Amino acid sequence: MRLLMTGAGGAAAISVWKSLAAEHELHMADMDPLATGLYLVPEGQRLIIPRGDDPRLVDVLLDACKARRIEVLLPTVDAELFPVAMARDKFEAIGVTLPISPAECLRLCRDKQLLLDAVAGKVPVPGNEPLTQESAGRVSSFPRFVKPRLGAGSRGVARIDRREDLDKQPKDGSVMLQEYLPGEEFSVDVYVRRDGIVVGAVPRERMKVDSGIAVASRTVDVPEVIQAAVRTAEIIGIRGVANVQFKRAADGVFKLLEVNPRYPGTLPLTAAAGVDMPKLMMDEAMGRPVPDRLMPFKELMVVRYWTEHYFDPKEWKALCRPQ
Ligand SMILES: Nc1ncnc2c1ncn2[C@@H]1O[C@H](COP(=O)(O)OP(=O)(O)O)[C@@H](O)[C@H]1O
Ligand SMILES: [Mg+2]
Repeated sequence: MRLLMTGAGGAAAISVWKSLAAEHELHMADMDPLATGLYLVPEGQRLIIPRGDDPRLVDVLLDACKARRIEVLLPTVDAELFPVAMARDKFEAIGVTLPISPAECLRLCRDKQLLLDAVAGKVPVPGNEPLTQESAGRVSSFPRFVKPRLGAGSRGVARIDRREDLDKQPKDGSVMLQEYLPGEEFSVDVYVRRDGIVVGAVPRERMKVDSGIAVASRTVDVPEVIQAAVRTAEIIGIRGVANVQFKRAADGVFKLLEVNPRYPGTLPLTAAAGVDMPKLMMDEAMGRPVPDRLMPFKELMVVRYWTEHYFDPKEWKALCRPQ
């Protein structure tokens, strides 16, 4: 099949390429002509696209899908998910499968407050309220934790150990004041079939992180975390791949941090452990049978290293020309 992937410079797109390059025709797109993944596919299968927040993005992708007879479009960049999901009908009208979550689910994942409200009572969530003058005034014990409702990449998160730390935080409700979770943290890669059945839920521990990329990780079989991730995915309506994050509270319970409704960058480990999510996505797109219950996986550890890919600078120049 012909698959077009965006975010060619990111670890997520390269992870998918590793799973699928041998069997499928992969097209790689990015806004940056220096994005690594562009050069892993033949010249005719590369594409420069506008930024995720550029209003031209959807039309550029629609035109490329038509011209290249693309069958599956996989955006892997956060900023692109919502605009592409809103145009789902247009993509489906030209025969393109869009294996991402519906816009309503993406809206919940973008705003951590809406997410926790949506699952509270059904999935363990941390003690949490908007940070205002009033709620700050009521804080009588530390540590606490603050993070922006709309944050990403750990920007703006902080452990709060004393009142002066709290005084520095904005009190306009844009920040969440949370119970501090001191324990282990797991990122659960989930795969949800088109009919809503969760067939993959593999907890991963990020053991060493370098510039935001996990360079040492392991899969861990923690039934409590697996069940909480499955429930979360079911309640908010995830489709395809997402990454559901939990951290252990002082009382021992794993509580929900956030959901990233897209492909994570450490997916090869999940595949090696027994649940190859890019392959599940293509099997579904081709109408091949896909398991109908949670797939088993093994506990496995990985360390990652850099590798080099050499090519003629003319290939880069060709992508720098106005498209
Ligand atoms: N309530 C909390 N207590 C302790 N640490 C937290 C809490 N919430 C988040 N963190 C830490 O901050 C990191 C980033 O928070 P997260 O909710 O994943 O947001 P994002 O990744 O979008 O910035 C987490 O990986 C976790 O280590
Ligand atoms: Mg996170």
